[in-house]
Amino acid sequence: MRTVIGKTSVEMGIAEFQALCEPHDAVLVDIGCGDGSFPYRVAGDHDALLCVGLDANAEAMAKYAARARRKPARGGRGNVLFVASAIESLPLELKGIAGLLTVNFPWAGLLASVVRGEPTLVQAIDHLAAQDCVLQILVNADADVPDLDAFTPQGLADVLGSALPRARFKLQSADWLPADARVRSQWGGRLIKGSGRRTIHIVAQRGSPDTPLSNVLAQAIGLPVAPNS
Ligand SMILES: C[S@@+](CC[C@H](N)C(=O)[O-])C[C@H]1O[C@@H](n2cnc3c(N)ncnc32)[C@H](O)[C@@H]1O
Repeated sequence: MRTVIGKTSVEMGIAEFQALCEPHDAVLVDIGCGDGSFPYRVAGDHDALLCVGLDANAEAMAKYAARARRKPARGGRGNVLFVASAIESLPLELKGIAGLLTVNFPWAGLLASVVRGEPTLVQAIDHLAAQDCVLQILVNADADVPDLDAFTPQGLADVLGSALPRARFKLQSADWLPADARVRSQWGGRLIKGSGRRTIHIVAQRGSPDTPLSNVLAQAIGLPVAPNS
C-alpha cells in the first residue's frame, strides 16, 4: 500500500505492516483524514493504539506525516501511519484491521456515500473493520448533497440503520453533537467552534468491542466516557 512520508510516498508490504501492528493493542483507521491531525493527536494520547490516517489526497497528509517522523521530543509518533487511498480501492493490507473506525466531516463522494448509505461506504467499512469494531461518524448537518435536504439524526439513523447491517454493524446512536464538543481534527475546529453549525454524531458497532476501546472515540471528541467494565 502507498504510505505517505512528508511530501513523498513509499510502498509498504503486508509483512512490514504486520510488524508495525504487532506491538499495538488495536488499530484505529480514520477514513478521509484530511490533514491527518485527528489520527496524529489520538496516537499521541494512546500509545497502545496504531492510528492510521487514510485519504485519497496524499498531499493533504504531508505536514502531519512529516511531523510523525520527527524525534519523539519534537512531536514524532511511532504509532501513526498515513495511507494514500480512496475508499473505492482499499489496499488488501488493511483488510479486517480496524478495531476503531472514524469518518469525520466527510465531503464530496465520501459524504454522499455516508448520507445515502451507499454500497461503496458499506463495502469499505466491511473491508477495514475487525470482527469487533466501533464506528463513529460525524456529519456536518448543513453540508450540501444534490437532491438531499439538510440532514437530521433521525434521517441518518434511518439510512444507516438499514445500510450498516450489510457490513455486520448495528447502529447504536444518532444524535446532535453537543455544541461544546471538541473534535480534534482540522474540520472539527473549523465547523464546531463558535460557528453555529450543527454536527450529527453516529455510533455503530460490530461484534462486542471492549468499553475502553469505545471510550477512546468519545474522548477524542470531548464527550463523557462510560465507566470501564
Ligand atoms: C472535509 S475533509 C475532512 C478531513 C478530516 N476528516 C477532518 O475532520 O479535518 C474530507 C476529506 O475526505 C476525503 N475524501 C473524499 N472522498 C474520499 C474517498 N472517496 N476516499 C477517501 N477519502 C476521501 C477528502 O480528500 C478530504 O480530505
